[in-house]
Amino acid sequence: MASIGCTLFILLHSCCFVWLYILPVAEAAANSVKYDSRSLIIDGQRRLLISAAIHYPRSVPAMWPGLVKTAKEGGVDAIETYVFWNGHEPSPGNYYFGGRYDLPKFVKIVQDAGMLLILRIGPFVAAEWNFGGIPVWLHYVPGTVFRTDNEPFKLYMQNFTTLIVNMMKKDKFFASQGGPIILAQVENEYGFYEPAYGEGGKSYTQWAAKMALSQNTGVPWIMCQQWDTPDPVINTCNSFYCDDFKPSYPTMPKIWTENWPGWFKTFGGRDPHRPPEDVAYSVARFFQKGGSVHNYYMYHGGTNFGRTSGGPFITTSYDYDAPIDEYGLPRFPKWGHLKELHRAIKLCEHALLNNKPALVLLGPKQEADVYEDQTGTCAAFIANLDDTNEKTVQFRNASYTLPAWSVSILPDCKNVVFNTAKVGSQTSTIEMVPEKLQPNWEIYVEKAGIWGEADFTRNGFVDHINTTKDTTDYLWHTTRLFVDRSEDFLTKGIKPILLIESKGHALHAFVNGILQASASGNGTVSPFKFKSPVSLKAGNNEIAILSMTVGLQNAGSFYEWVGAGLTSVKLEGMKNGTMDLSHTAWTYKIGLEGEHLRLYNADSAKNVKWTKVSEPPKNQPLTWYKAIVDAPPGDEPIALDMVHMGKGLAWLNGEQIGRYWPRKAPTDKCVTTCDYRGKFNPDKCNRGCGEPTQRWYHVPRSWFKPSGNVLVIFEEKGGDPSQMMFSRRKVSALCAHVSEDHPSFVTNDMRKIKSSLELKCPINAYISGFKFASYGTPTGSCQSFTVGDCHDPDSTSVVEKLCLNKNECIVELSEDNFKTELCPGKTKKLVVEAMCS
Ligand SMILES: *[C@@H]1O[C@H](CO)[C@@H](O)[C@H](O)[C@H]1NC(C)=O
Ligand SMILES: *[C@@H]1O[C@H](CO)[C@@H](O)[C@H](O)[C@H]1NC(C)=O
Ligand SMILES: *[C@@H]1O[C@H](CO)[C@@H](O)[C@H](O)[C@H]1NC(C)=O
Ligand SMILES: *[C@@H]1O[C@H](CO)[C@@H](O)[C@H](O)[C@H]1NC(C)=O
Ligand SMILES: *[C@@H]1O[C@H](CO)[C@@H](O)[C@H](O)[C@H]1NC(C)=O
Repeated sequence: MASIGCTLFILLHSCCFVWLYILPVAEAAANSVKYDSRSLIIDGQRRLLISAAIHYPRSVPAMWPGLVKTAKEGGVDAIETYVFWNGHEPSPGNYYFGGRYDLPKFVKIVQDAGMLLILRIGPFVAAEWNFGGIPVWLHYVPGTVFRTDNEPFKLYMQNFTTLIVNMMKKDKFFASQGGPIILAQVENEYGFYEPAYGEGGKSYTQWAAKMALSQNTGVPWIMCQQWDTPDPVINTCNSFYCDDFKPSYPTMPKIWTENWPGWFKTFGGRDPHRPPEDVAYSVARFFQKGGSVHNYYMYHGGTNFGRTSGGPFITTSYDYDAPIDEYGLPRFPKWGHLKELHRAIKLCEHALLNNKPALVLLGPKQEADVYEDQTGTCAAFIANLDDTNEKTVQFRNASYTLPAWSVSILPDCKNVVFNTAKVGSQTSTIEMVPEKLQPNWEIYVEKAGIWGEADFTRNGFVDHINTTKDTTDYLWHTTRLFVDRSEDFLTKGIKPILLIESKGHALHAFVNGILQASASGNGTVSPFKFKSPVSLKAGNNEIAILSMTVGLQNAGSFYEWVGAGLTSVKLEGMKNGTMDLSHTAWTYKIGLEGEHLRLYNADSAKNVKWTKVSEPPKNQPLTWYKAIVDAPPGDEPIALDMVHMGKGLAWLNGEQIGRYWPRKAPTDKCVTTCDYRGKFNPDKCNRGCGEPTQRWYHVPRSWFKPSGNVLVIFEEKGGDPSQMMFSRRKVSALCAHVSEDHPSFVTNDMRKIKSSLELKCPINAYISGFKFASYGTPTGSCQSFTVGDCHDPDSTSVVEKLCLNKNECIVELSEDNFKTELCPGKTKKLVVEAMCS
């Protein structure tokens, strides 16, 4: 850290403001967090911060230290998390801070790692999290309207905010108390929606800011995407690019709370990817243009365990194509590329924070920002904004070739240590290694329709969410239908057509206990209608419709009023024409029998008579499957492979794995290679066309016991449980290459390292061998490299000496390591393929 002391900076910005930077004259109070237009000032020191979103309930406590460590190794200074109100207050006044919701424990882990924390309390958070994080019960407190000037909402919001703040104060977690929390957020992305709430919206924003300030945390408050924050609450940016962002007041620093390095998925949707070159470009541009706090949303996305995913249709996986994957493994090359980026930016920190930028135009779409002072400190970022063409520019009498859509970072205004479009990081090959379950299944089949006593009967339909209050996904509707013997279809072998309309999200339709059809909305469009032929018999028929929610709405104005469930049921092809059943008597039952009996808990299994089967039945709806399973060997992360199942819920040892639904993505609009150049949008680089959006479901290792693990599955419509498997997520190969002409990098102590290659295994794994190593002119690609004409025969022994049995290592292309005099005139490179174990 550069020491700044007592300094007066006068910064002239292009927009002609004159900003005065006056730093504390004396030693600042320990751990104070202040800010000015340039940056946060922590303990009297300006900081340029890289932050990483890791949401504590989206992993498990056993993973937290590893995730935080992997973030730190990736060059991250701060962890950012939302606080998840509906996980913490399942019913009014009944609080939960255990297990995945142990917020104090999470903060302590961040603190112990020597990192900072940004706490986004919300308590509305959106986050692709069920109901945006607000407890569903609050919607049913009479008179409540969310996120506006509404007394009950404000009362409960203030109560929860105060509870969290007091909890953090008690453990001295605020920086003002010597703890890691440097910023706190109130509300979330409300700016877009505020106009929909009229005057109530405006006054709510002011109230929320004031309420937050009155908490006296001693650290600044932020509100993201909120253009009318009252001073001193800081408005921050959420987007794929924030280089052009301007905070609401010239006294405030430029903070990027959400840079989305990927995107989330919906069941039945494609698999979006954001190329690492473009993520790095956006980050470099932000710091080039005066940004000082940057957060990846998400750095580790994790898993929406249980029924926590928002919706409708957000997948159980919240991988997000983030730098750390859902399972906690660094994602290469993204993680490695960003690590190199962070190192390059940090080399410029002193120059960036203490000088005003001078903009130098180098071409029609090429520009440098130079941060320089009289003492010789100088850092420059040179950008090529052209989204198609490479360009060579002259900068300070030297020539620089800039790939299209890239930024070069020059911490000394001369040497390029990093270019955002040149990915030097290792890549890794990840396999899902199948592990047969070989269980002895027991099953319990629920009957279609009302089990036990009906909850109520009424003419017509109710709103699904108003009825279940989200205590379950499931709501049964049944009605009786008398079919006269004289109906033509009985003798003509044609089937009448069932027409159903629903506000969402999905349903299965049964007649006389037999599944006839399933339907659902898709993407984020929850309403749907469908028609399907059904089998009816003469006399009484029972129509039973299982309506389902698949994650509640998590954002939008008045989102808590968006309903779900049936709105119309008709039968076509009767003698009398179309018969409308929408207003007849329907009998309702909330939830499944098995949920009521808690069949997912090992000790509640005695509540029902399970049937032992040698072969589990296939394609059988409404079936609970239970088996004792062993943990797959080793310590790789584990997933449950559900590609052969239909749709339902899964548990291990009573822990909720979540909803599974291997629903397939459309077959079009995917790319085989992704062009990183040009502005990214979530549909730009889709993969997974025609494949299930989510095949594997993360089962944290810490949920397994040494033996006697109880796996419970509820299958709604039918699948083939004999093909259900665990898979180990195994890093089968690490490949890396570096060429002599790759930029050399400078370490944090300004030691220049020649072109070099870095290898890293997952946490707790070590480099166990090399399948390939060649310094010279090797060719081929990962897992099929071959030696070229030029080859240093000692290549393997050199890399073994430097790397074997290490978690990570760096190999320099120096004379000390390799025969650099080999084949003069040729550009040599080092290529390796390593194994981890
Ligand atoms: C708010 O918190 C106070 C103190 O914890 C409690 O007595 C009160 O019942 C809470 N009010 C609501 C609406 O939850
Ligand atoms: C560039 O070259 C010119 C002419 O040789 C020289 O006067 C100038 O100082 C140089 N500029 C830099 C930044 O080196
Ligand atoms: C989603 O639903 C709409 C309306 O029902 C339909 O037109 C569209 O084809 C569906 N898309 C996919 C991907 O299934
Ligand atoms: C749910 O019930 C409330 C009354 O309790 C009603 O105001 C609201 O409109 C209902 N929602 C839907 C989607 O029908
Ligand atoms: C068909 O219509 C006739 C005349 O309206 C009515 O009496 C009869 O009950 C209807 N049958 C059915 C099955 O709805």
